[in-house]
Amino acid sequence: MKVRDYIVLTINGNVHKISGEQAFMPFSSLLRYEIGLTGTKVVCAEGDCGACTILYRRHSADADKFVSINSCISTSFLMDMSHVISVEGLAKQNQLSEVQDSMIRNFGGQCGFCTPGFVMALSSMYENTKTITEQKVKNYLTGNLCRCTGYQPIINAAMAVDTKKVAPLKSCYNYEKLTKDLESDQFVPIKITVGEKEFFAPTTLAQAAEYKKKHPNVRLFSGATDIGVQINKGRNPGANLMSLHLIPEMYALKHDGDQIVVGARVNLNTLQKFLEGKSPKFAEFLNIFASPQIKNAATLVGNLANGSPIADTTPYLLTADAIVELFGSSGTRSVALTDFIKGYKSFDLKDDEFITGIRFKIPNASSSKIGLFKVSQRRDLDISCVNSSFVFQTQNNKIEKAKIAYGGVGPKALRLFDVEKVLEGQEMTPALASKAKQMIATTITPISDMRGSAEFRSQICLDLFERFVQENF
Ligand SMILES: Cc1cc2nc3c(=O)[nH]c(=O)nc-3n(C[C@H](O)[C@H](O)[C@H](O)COP(=O)(O)OP(=O)(O)OC[C@H]3O[C@@H](n4cnc5c(N)ncnc54)[C@H](O)[C@@H]3O)c2cc1C
Ligand code: FES
Ligand code: FES
Repeated sequence: MKVRDYIVLTINGNVHKISGEQAFMPFSSLLRYEIGLTGTKVVCAEGDCGACTILYRRHSADADKFVSINSCISTSFLMDMSHVISVEGLAKQNQLSEVQDSMIRNFGGQCGFCTPGFVMALSSMYENTKTITEQKVKNYLTGNLCRCTGYQPIINAAMAVDTKKVAPLKSCYNYEKLTKDLESDQFVPIKITVGEKEFFAPTTLAQAAEYKKKHPNVRLFSGATDIGVQINKGRNPGANLMSLHLIPEMYALKHDGDQIVVGARVNLNTLQKFLEGKSPKFAEFLNIFASPQIKNAATLVGNLANGSPIADTTPYLLTADAIVELFGSSGTRSVALTDFIKGYKSFDLKDDEFITGIRFKIPNASSSKIGLFKVSQRRDLDISCVNSSFVFQTQNNKIEKAKIAYGGVGPKALRLFDVEKVLEGQEMTPALASKAKQMIATTITPISDMRGSAEFRSQICLDLFERFVQENF
């Protein structure tokens, strides 16, 4: 098998081939210390503050717009086959971009650490939308923190940009040439070995399964928004690392009958846009998932495979009868999500298997009552204390089918089958709601931690059910 021992990408229009130790660095370190592009700053190194924001576009992606991501938690090898623009790449022929210019005119440039990140986040907004409202600006800035001055001058700068003068970033470079520069490496697997460490990127599922069989402990990387944080905190991801980014099927995103099929490399922002109109409640819920930068990298599969009992998408997937698609040396296997999650970070996943995608049902819009909730200490960019999903099918006031799931209430996210059975075939009444709440209280087993006490979590679970009932019956 022909392999390459380097990754290839363009940065501000120039082609770079990166090999050896550099390929394993956080991408922000590669930019700053190896390439000398020090405009990108690192403050938290956890994906929280946005100082390290860069613009990114995957080579051969369907969408041709650049989106923002956090470079501090992206491992460099994941940037293979992408076009990157750092803050140095915005100005052309010594002429600042419209966003940069507006930041100066409106006193939006505050401290030197955060300002490049703010400029990049706003540039990504103008790249992806032309109708600007103050709320939209705030949404695009949820992944950028300031601890010195506040946000008003930055918001003012964003609102003052002359949208007619903003050119798509693609038009600032000889894009056709850049695309050609990467093309020849697109279908060649990567193997980069440095001492004990090895990174492998297969181009087919069979190659991936063979590698996993040989190295059962290989660590899969998707968007790295979980693993990247752990690596920056000093946790070793293991010796063998693998990414499925060169396998085209991993980007599948389609409507198949009454199901949505999501490949392992589909990021949450792409998924959210796809779901608008098809599964609006889930799309709306994804609004309060992390920040634009995180969602442009994070995947649905990564959210599940991280195995966190408070992963935000798991309760909904449990109530949408999700099926996890697996691939291993004996081929494909499909497992119901309820059976797939066995315990805390424990799955029905064989040594040679990995996840290739998730499919889940779209509830019938006319007969469904849906409630999706996340409770966290702040609204945006926070990890849940408790999350929940309620999907009920009703006819003539009768509950035909009830599906209830909670996260943050035990070692794994839970479907509450016994409570569902008691509700089915009944009309919702205060007495029935009260009985259901008593059963919920005895089924869940929350613990106390920094996000909330066990008592608080139990009370919230009952309150969320009550809220769903009040809003829908
Ligand atoms: C600032 C910040 C905010 C966040 N906010 C939220 C939030 O609001 N809600 C929330 O739920 N989470 C949040 N997260 C956590 C994280 O973004 C999500 O869990 C995300 O969906 C992970 O996806 P990923 O593609 O980045 O996974 P990765 O980090 O790439 O991988 C996560 C885990 O899944 C495994 N894995 C990846 N792909 C596969 C595969 N194909 N087969 C088998 N295993 C695989 C990896 O080995 C790893 O163990 C946040 C993280 C950060 C840094
Ligand atoms: S440095 Fe804070 S998000 Fe990357
Ligand atoms: S702009 Fe950096 S802390 Fe306020």
